[in-house]
Amino acid sequence: MNNQIQAIILAAGKSSRFNTTKTKLSFTICGQEMIMYPIRLFSQLKINTALVLGYQKEIILNILEKNKLNIPFVEQKEQLGTGHAALTTMHLWQAENVLIMNGDMPLVDKNIINQLIEKHLKSDATISFVTSHNSDPSITAYGRVIRNENKIKIVEAKDFKGDLNSPCCINAGIYIAKKDFLKKTLINLEKSSSGEFYITDLIKIADDANLKIETVDAPFDYIRGINTLKELWQAEQIKRFEIINNWMNKGVRFISPGSTQIDINVSIEPNTVIGTCVQIKNNTKIGNNCLIDAFSIIDNSILENSVVVHPNTIISDSQINQNSQVGPFAQIKKETVILNNAIIGNFVEISKSTIGSGTKAKHLSYIGNSSVGQNVNIGAGTITCNYNGVNKNNTIIEDNAFIGSNSSLVAPVKIGQGAIVAAGSCITENVEANDLAIARERQINKKDYAPKLKAKYKQQEEIKSAVLSKKETIKQLE
Ligand code: UD1
Ligand code: CA
Repeated sequence: MNNQIQAIILAAGKSSRFNTTKTKLSFTICGQEMIMYPIRLFSQLKINTALVLGYQKEIILNILEKNKLNIPFVEQKEQLGTGHAALTTMHLWQAENVLIMNGDMPLVDKNIINQLIEKHLKSDATISFVTSHNSDPSITAYGRVIRNENKIKIVEAKDFKGDLNSPCCINAGIYIAKKDFLKKTLINLEKSSSGEFYITDLIKIADDANLKIETVDAPFDYIRGINTLKELWQAEQIKRFEIINNWMNKGVRFISPGSTQIDINVSIEPNTVIGTCVQIKNNTKIGNNCLIDAFSIIDNSILENSVVVHPNTIISDSQINQNSQVGPFAQIKKETVILNNAIIGNFVEISKSTIGSGTKAKHLSYIGNSSVGQNVNIGAGTITCNYNGVNKNNTIIEDNAFIGSNSSLVAPVKIGQGAIVAAGSCITENVEANDLAIARERQINKKDYAPKLKAKYKQQEEIKSAVLSKKETIKQLE
């Protein structure tokens, strides 16, 4: 841990410009909540961190818990501005320098923080902060850094009297200051025109006292603050591009990168090809030489090497082992494991099951709560009836069994090794190894009966239309 520096993340604000029910800090960017970005950043830099929480603090605390993080926090009961938020943490300041950062800037990288710290410490500045430039006049949500005859201050856009369209240097929202300076000044901040206490006023205060101020300039895309859903979308586009670019550099091919979503915690091995409109989410790991074809969603799953996922397939919380194929239009879910060289075809749903190596279920099946052995053949339309309206029951299908098409296996039930279930069977009893089970009505063929049946139907039709026309005549006579 860096003992000279500690960090405070300001995360108590109301998110009023988001116009959503939930705090903006709980919204995800590439699968990770916005608040987790600065937290992860400081943790990677080994800087002790505390949070200022207030508005919907329970939501933020839940996110921390989900991520198994125990980070100290201070509650800012009333949202009286960024200066007030920083002040509430005073009792936690131990290091000589306190780094304070807005919680709504997820694109900041280590490089910017390192540069700021290095410049601040080397120059022995009292306060240092990150600046940036943006030439888009429609962006008015940032404080402007005004430098005039060796003087420097930050003026919020709403208090700025000049031409808002004029090019300017903006305040990023990351500051590092000596603890003693913060102790003396934060407590004496004056209310701004909006009634809030602004942390940004510290720059003018330091400047008026002739204290040393340093700035570090960063590209705008790294310091974007997220105040609106539009800005969230823009930031997510940038992050997505960064993630995809990273995997491309490592040998992953993207057919249509603009339409692809890859979450931040995903990993993909080289030689894998990702098709159009694919979403790969949460902690998914994809091996070497896989194909994830168009419109598929892979969520929190492991795909070993050389797995093929055909288009429109959904795989969640499951594992697909080497050389297996899934889809098109398949759904694999709830901790299903598909072993090597299996083929799961179109319109097959598999839930909470294990499928042995070399097993095939190529068309139109539901397999739930099942343990299926090796080299089993599951015919089209096979259904495991695992739910009796109250609880779920298991089906066991042993190695080399053959389940004929359109069979229902009513669980709990076991089909032994090498057994055959005849097509169209409704199996309610266990089938022993190597047995043949037929569970359907026997077929009867009536010799030369087809023309007779047709004649009978024709006669029925004729009688029907004669009755109808009679009814019509009576109606007309009435
Ligand atoms: C702030 C800066 C602005 C800068 C911009 C960069 C101030 C006064 N303005 O403006 O100069 O260009 O960031 O994005 O600081 N928060 C609290 N408690 C509060 C108010 C806010 O914890 O009482 C937290 C928010 O949750 C947020 C952060 O502080 O994470 C910044 O607040 P926000 O309202 O977004 O400030 P901006 O208007 O963006
Ligand atoms: Ca902001």
